[in-house]
Amino acid sequence: MTKRKPIVAGNWKMFMGPADGAQLAYRLLNAYEIIAPLDVVICPPFVSMTEVGRAIEGSAICLGAQNVFWESNEGPYTGEVSAQMLSGWCDYVIVGHSERRQHFNETDAIVNRKVQAGLYYGMRVIICVGEDVHENRAGNTKDVIERQIREAYLGVTHKDALQTVVAYEPIWAIGTGLASDPVEANKVCAEYVRGTLYNMYGDEVSEKIRIQYGGSINKNNISEFIVQSDIDGVLIGGASLSAEDFSGILSLVGRHYLSD
Ligand code: PGA
Repeated sequence: MTKRKPIVAGNWKMFMGPADGAQLAYRLLNAYEIIAPLDVVICPPFVSMTEVGRAIEGSAICLGAQNVFWESNEGPYTGEVSAQMLSGWCDYVIVGHSERRQHFNETDAIVNRKVQAGLYYGMRVIICVGEDVHENRAGNTKDVIERQIREAYLGVTHKDALQTVVAYEPIWAIGTGLASDPVEANKVCAEYVRGTLYNMYGDEVSEKIRIQYGGSINKNNISEFIVQSDIDGVLIGGASLSAEDFSGILSLVGRHYLSD
């Protein structure tokens, strides 16, 4: 079995302006005891990225953006930020988060354009997929996830696919305190996400792409998720807003990685 380096990302959503964000970043740096070489990413709102970026410069924590526009260079798109602009600023970008799909009508086609834009400018792209509660209850999770993966990766080369991470986030588990069952989540990650990637890219690429679980992860449940075969990290919302909680999660993931 391939040993994949874990990746833990914090999605701050629309919390933490520049001053609060920088403070949180400093607190996190103080609290984070590096146990293993994990990939750690924090994704503040755009307006806080400069301050947070400055705070974590030269540390083991990377900066990510929560969104990017699909037109990759520049143009008359009021309020949008392009991949070209972001590429000098951060290493990662989250694309297709369910909150964007839901509140900003991001379709699979739009997600694909954003993925392409981010990759074109050399960023690592965290691609979010996940079914809603109705799709889950109706037994449609497999179809939804396979479709989201296929469409997000349309036209993405093998080489570029290696720059991506998938975050499986069942919508009903996000911010609800009701995390998925870890074994169920692993089945989705292994069979529907990695299985689809295998069909598209073959063994080598699909084995290397890291898959995160996201949805109500905290210090108390992280250990049950990180031991799963196909969960290579987590995407964290609420718990990433506390330096203590986030660093606690990082320690547990680091320990598991070393003991594995
Ligand atoms: P949560 O959010 O950890 O607060 O459930 C996860 C996410 O939206 O990425």
